[in-house]
Amino acid sequence: MQKDYQNVQKWSVSSRIFHWISAALLLVTWLLMLAYGYNESKVFLGLHKAFGISVLFWMIARVINRLFTKAPPPLPMPKIQVLISQLTHFLLYALLIAMPIAGLLMSVYGGRPVDMFGLFEIPVFVTPNRTAARFYNDVHADILWPMIIVFTLAHIGAAFFHQWIKKDKLIDRMK
Ligand code: HEM
Ligand code: HEM
Repeated sequence: MQKDYQNVQKWSVSSRIFHWISAALLLVTWLLMLAYGYNESKVFLGLHKAFGISVLFWMIARVINRLFTKAPPPLPMPKIQVLISQLTHFLLYALLIAMPIAGLLMSVYGGRPVDMFGLFEIPVFVTPNRTAARFYNDVHADILWPMIIVFTLAHIGAAFFHQWIKKDKLIDRMK
């Protein structure tokens, strides 16, 4: 197999924009929860929810974009590595969709509507139920969040491994 790392085959412009804005939204949503941890102001929690729902909307648009744009062919690497990267990408998509849905369900089952930056409100569309609220809280905090940490760190670790150790310009494809 010829290893041609000179001609970088980039992801489409839309995929690159979707990628970096998703990462930024995730970071902000997490930082707001950290801020809420230090100072239990409802402002931080409210913004955490609004940014979290923004992740959901953004990811729905991203899935549609992904279905209609072509991914560049993978860099030359063993098949198993390609498979692992595709599986990780798929899981990251699924997690970034499931996480805000769990957050939303936790809130509405807790009887709380979600204010979207004062622009509109997501109403309580279920019958409030403490057991269900607690269940989605556990899913949000104890199942999905640790999974997001593990797969995101693996993803970023792999990207830097390619960039610095294999020097195959992988990150340039997403820049
Ligand atoms: C990608 C989107 C989201 C991420 C990454 C995220 C992340 C987190 C994290 C890390 C925590 C702390 C978990 C812990 O206690 O260890 C948390 C808690 C929480 N999140 Fe989210 N979240 C997201 C979306 C949402 C959404 C959309 C809502 C509601 C509409 C929401 C509502 C909450 C609530 C109510 C808590 C519990 C706060 C407390 O302890 O009182 N989250 N979230
Ligand atoms: C420093 C942070 C990050 C770097 C350097 C990075 C780098 C990359 C690169 C180079 C690719 C393309 C891989 C290829 O061509 O095979 C990629 C794809 C991808 N990344 Fe990241 N990434 C970062 C953060 C994140 C975060 C935080 C997430 C979400 C949690 C994420 C989710 C994805 C997904 C889902 C893909 C697949 C592309 C698609 O199908 O849209 N990345 N990333």
